[in-house]
Amino acid sequence: MTKYTIATIPGDGIGKEVTAEAVKVLQAIEAASSLDFEFINIEGGGQYYQETGKEWEDGSYEICRDDADAILLGAVGWPGSRLPDGGLAGAGIVFGLRFGLDLYANVRPTKLYPGVLHTVHGERKQVWEPGKVDLVTVRENTEGLYAPIRGILDRGEVEEVGIDTRIITKKGSERVIKYAFELAMRRSGAPQDQTKRVTCVDKSNVLKGDQMYRRIYDRIAEGYPDIEKDYAYIDAYLQWLVRNPDFYDVIVTSNMFGDISSDLAAVLGGSLGMAASGNIGDNHGLFEPVHGSAPKHAGKNRTNPIATVISAGMMLDFLGVKHKDDEALRMNTIIDESVSALLKEGSTLTYDLGGNSSTSQVGDALSSLVTQTLE
Ligand code: IPM
Ligand code: MN
Repeated sequence: MTKYTIATIPGDGIGKEVTAEAVKVLQAIEAASSLDFEFINIEGGGQYYQETGKEWEDGSYEICRDDADAILLGAVGWPGSRLPDGGLAGAGIVFGLRFGLDLYANVRPTKLYPGVLHTVHGERKQVWEPGKVDLVTVRENTEGLYAPIRGILDRGEVEEVGIDTRIITKKGSERVIKYAFELAMRRSGAPQDQTKRVTCVDKSNVLKGDQMYRRIYDRIAEGYPDIEKDYAYIDAYLQWLVRNPDFYDVIVTSNMFGDISSDLAAVLGGSLGMAASGNIGDNHGLFEPVHGSAPKHAGKNRTNPIATVISAGMMLDFLGVKHKDDEALRMNTIIDESVSALLKEGSTLTYDLGGNSSTSQVGDALSSLVTQTLE
């Protein structure tokens, strides 16, 4: 038995519903594998802030830092719930953990599973063949435009200047680029030509930080002769991404560019409800769906839990790599195969994928598939 302590932070809105389903799937794994999980549930988010005046329970950060092997988060943010400085209440949890635990690689896979149709032009149809979209955006997660070097210049009670400073460092660039190359080594290449490829996405035709970042990319790439080097400016990349998604394997980019481009990439996977992510550092990992708390759907048991279930699978992969635990690695594969089987069969889908099943029906169906495979 290998035991892992998992901190769960369901957060706000649909975050609570989708986290419950991912935990259900993890419990199905626990029942039929040699993995054992201890869940520590942490309350927090914008709604919690409205009730208590705190973003999360006292001691939560320390639990995540000292006790948890990994963290699974639903979503934070609730309409009208703002901090005294106007900031989103609950964002302190996400940023507190990203920066505090130094989770420098924000890993966002986009994969089009067979059976999933897109809504790119309003109507649901097959725009790309399944298998043509299988890429990962690796977004730098601890600097760039998200560095907390910012402010407003108030003079005579007039807000005159707003400043956000973009910081690109050698250390921050080296480690995230290295992460991207290591990830590409574990993958089977781009769908188009099975070539392992890491695309460096930047704006180095203008920005100094990105010129340095590109030189660092070149230096790191020298250590990976089996991986094809590729460069794109962020603006051009976005249109190539939509036109030729099958060319891409791993994309490595700075914080804000990765924030924006990974939402666009998520469309290629059929739905934001399919978009999973991991915030990964050398010692800690936080896994969360890319979608937010979706207040208008909250409490209706209707949104897609698959992004959170895939995120939980990524969490097992992270634990597997970190602890050299083949069983944890295998359980990520089983989650992926179960998701694939569910989508292919097509009768238990939530509304975003054209079905009318509930969040919990999808969670139940995935748990049964996992159990069947492991029995
Ligand atoms: C994301 C989100 C967050 C970000 C927001 C909610 C602060 O958009 O994880 O992509 O900008 O990083
Ligand atoms: Mn985002």
